[in-house]
Amino acid sequence: MKSKVYIETFGCQMNVADTERAATGLRKAGYELTSMAGEADVVLLNTCSVRERAERKVFRRIGEIRKLTTTTRKSKPLIGVMGCVAQLEGESIFRNAPAVDLVIGTRATDRIPSMIQRARGGEASVIDLDERQEGEEWNVSPAERRSPYIAFVPIIEGCNKFCSFCIVPYSRGREKSRNAAEIVDEVSRLHSLGYKEVHLIGQNVNSYRPKSQEGLEAYQGATSFSRLLRAVAETGMDRIKFTTSFPRDFHPDIVSAIEEYPNLCDWVHLPAQSGSNRILKAMRRGHTREDYLRRVNGIKTSKRRLALTSDIIVGFPGETREDFEDTMRLVRECEYDQIYMFKYSKRAGTPAAQLDDEVPESEKTARFIELEDLQISIQKMIYESYVGRRVSALVERQSARSENDMMGHTTCNKVVNFRPDGAQAGDVVEVLVSEAKPNSLYGTLAATAGTGV
Ligand code: SAH
Ligand code: F3S
Repeated sequence: MKSKVYIETFGCQMNVADTERAATGLRKAGYELTSMAGEADVVLLNTCSVRERAERKVFRRIGEIRKLTTTTRKSKPLIGVMGCVAQLEGESIFRNAPAVDLVIGTRATDRIPSMIQRARGGEASVIDLDERQEGEEWNVSPAERRSPYIAFVPIIEGCNKFCSFCIVPYSRGREKSRNAAEIVDEVSRLHSLGYKEVHLIGQNVNSYRPKSQEGLEAYQGATSFSRLLRAVAETGMDRIKFTTSFPRDFHPDIVSAIEEYPNLCDWVHLPAQSGSNRILKAMRRGHTREDYLRRVNGIKTSKRRLALTSDIIVGFPGETREDFEDTMRLVRECEYDQIYMFKYSKRAGTPAAQLDDEVPESEKTARFIELEDLQISIQKMIYESYVGRRVSALVERQSARSENDMMGHTTCNKVVNFRPDGAQAGDVVEVLVSEAKPNSLYGTLAATAGTGV
């Protein structure tokens, strides 16, 4: 009988992509993947450490898994920690959680089968925090993808930016761009397999700098990333999204590429983090408020209506009321379609962790709520402006709100619920928006494009 592996994924899209890659390698090595931890011979947790809360969750989860598996079976499964917590905590995981057998760094995804073999051969505390090796390539089989219609395609790994609050450069290492020809091939293959949408992903996709221009020779563009966008658009893939963009590397040519190709979606995620120049400097973001607004202006004045989303941190050490007011003003000015808001979380090993003028937790919470209230009112106005308009949606699944409705995301990355009228998951449909909710749109089917209906 084949050994069964269960993988649980926390955190960002990069972790989802890594899980898919790990599952592909495991299946190739003869393992079976299961969705039930209780029946697994190997349990892997793919972890996130971007904020303290995410990291604590991992250790709680190891305890739960341990309990679950001892009540459902005789022998203990092998337990492995993958992802950012594995890379950062390394050996100490074995001491803090003795049930753990494997510590699998962020670039050891392809070596999991051999690590399992070593553990089975009697080696205790198997650990691999090394770089990816020569010849290891992104290779994900469609069977392991989370969705049969939407695929995550990593184009760059790691981060060189070292924002002072962020642990990612330490957990994911230096930026490494994938070969463009390989990315274009992958998207072409996904297109012929019936995928409707790809997300080009990376910590900073627009910092994309491959070793050679192989695969991009035929395309115009001011940067490798904007050439890559054009090359990927030419594959004919229905919808192409990309995230995250780093403000300092956001070249206006990205907007030009979007204007040229309707299949490049009308959405840009451009995290500002703060609206105060003093705080931006302390965050070592490499952009000022004015630089940021200049890029936003390029996005907002595009011929196409582009949705703009952001990440904002409140309560960075030393953030005064005035600094926070600057952030509120920036948010008013940018009129974001959505914001991911975070209370600053101190991460050991980052430069910001050395700063001592911490904002009290109660003040962080108060600012968070104030910012959230502002965004709710801005978002209401933006979402209401879609009422009466048609949006293109990729049907994903039944709506959580009503079993009579289906849900999908628009090209501008908004959730839309609608009466399906025969439309099925995987179809690209046009929805006439009749109602705006705080975080989603509601509508009826206007016309159907794509397959199946
Ligand atoms: N460029 C990356 C950012 C990764 S972290 C990307 O792909 O999105 C995602 C977001 O988490 C950051 O933009 C930031 O807003 C938030 N974040 C990172 N470190 C944080 C910390 N120490 N405390 C609070 N929020 C943090
Ligand atoms: Fe983190 Fe800044 Fe890189 S937020 S992922 S160090 S761009």
